[in-house]
Amino acid sequence: MFNLDSNASKKPFEKVLDKFNTDIRKYFYNPSNTTTKQAIEENFKINKIKLYLLKNFGFSDEDNIIFTSGATESNSTVINYIIKLNDDICITKKKRIVYDTFAHSSITKKIKKKKFNDFIMFDSDIDDINESDHINAIQLNLSIELSDKELINVYLKSKPDVLFLNAIDSITGRIIPYDKIFKKIKEQNENCLCILDFSQNILLNDLKKKTEADIITFSGYKYGALPGTGCIICKKNIHISPLIYGVQQNKIRGGTLNYSYIHSLKTGLKEKFIKYNDEYIKDIKQTKQQLCKKLSQYNIINDSDNFIDNVITLKFDHCTKKYAYILSNEYNINVGIGSACETEKKKKINEGYIRLSFDNILSDKQIMYITDSIIKVIK
Ligand SMILES: Cc1ncc(COP(=O)(O)O)c(C=O)c1O
Repeated sequence: MFNLDSNASKKPFEKVLDKFNTDIRKYFYNPSNTTTKQAIEENFKINKIKLYLLKNFGFSDEDNIIFTSGATESNSTVINYIIKLNDDICITKKKRIVYDTFAHSSITKKIKKKKFNDFIMFDSDIDDINESDHINAIQLNLSIELSDKELINVYLKSKPDVLFLNAIDSITGRIIPYDKIFKKIKEQNENCLCILDFSQNILLNDLKKKTEADIITFSGYKYGALPGTGCIICKKNIHISPLIYGVQQNKIRGGTLNYSYIHSLKTGLKEKFIKYNDEYIKDIKQTKQQLCKKLSQYNIINDSDNFIDNVITLKFDHCTKKYAYILSNEYNINVGIGSACETEKKKKINEGYIRLSFDNILSDKQIMYITDSIIKVIK
């Protein structure tokens, strides 16, 4: 089986699985218990994991980390926090939340469900929105063809108080220049709350750098940690409201902490740093180039310089889902169709993208098999 949907379903790293196997037998105490030796030890280790994650995501030791079940819960919790902020203020002062076509369904669905007053879709080619227009939520309808500069301009025109960005467009693999955008937005409105959904695939180059984001949400299984793990990282002055009430994690999220799962976040990230060395990245780029070269004559490749190294997207105006199904069932090649991330507009039944995302370096023979299979299916 070729898993060319590794940005959606990634097998946890072996090291993560090995560690989990021993940890789950050893660490099953409730770390909020402050009287047992084992719970104290677990708690101590969890704090060390927190510091490791804060440091590697460009935050300071004093900032906050809340462990969650994944990015969906993290995003939902953050949106709840914004709703709470808005509940306390009068209509003219409500914070305008802006997100875009690239947002994951955990953001779009939650915002729509919460029925923000005066929700609008905003096309990049229409005029500025006035600061005095009391629109609570705006979804920017962005075309992938916009340059970075044009993207920044649209965000500026939307005048956000809260800006939710995705680090990567999960359908096409485009890298969004999120830190540049946040910087410009903060020049326009220093109080704008900048939130980054960092789930799709962590860009190692962007880790460790101090970030412009005030809040980061992410999902562990995207980089080889265990599924069902994630967290919210936020600046120390941000006091997130709970989605799940209880006394754990400073009362921000209830529920007994699962040491083994939480530890997989650290092990996964550490493994990723080891595995994704320069040599590996060079080989991944080469695999992408070879795949692109073989498929280029069919005019289906949707790619550009600012797309992530391990992703190729193929664009079809018909039968996309059928192609993906046949590739998996008849040719043992799993591909992504980005269904969780598609906007309503793109959800025309047959039109869409097939995303090939790979973690393994493929041999010439494998590349040949994959490209031949794709060509056979689309013909
Ligand atoms: C950009 C993005 N945000 C959020 C999520 C949801 O993550 P989780 O499955 O950990 O809840 C995903 C998962 O596909 C994603 O790609």
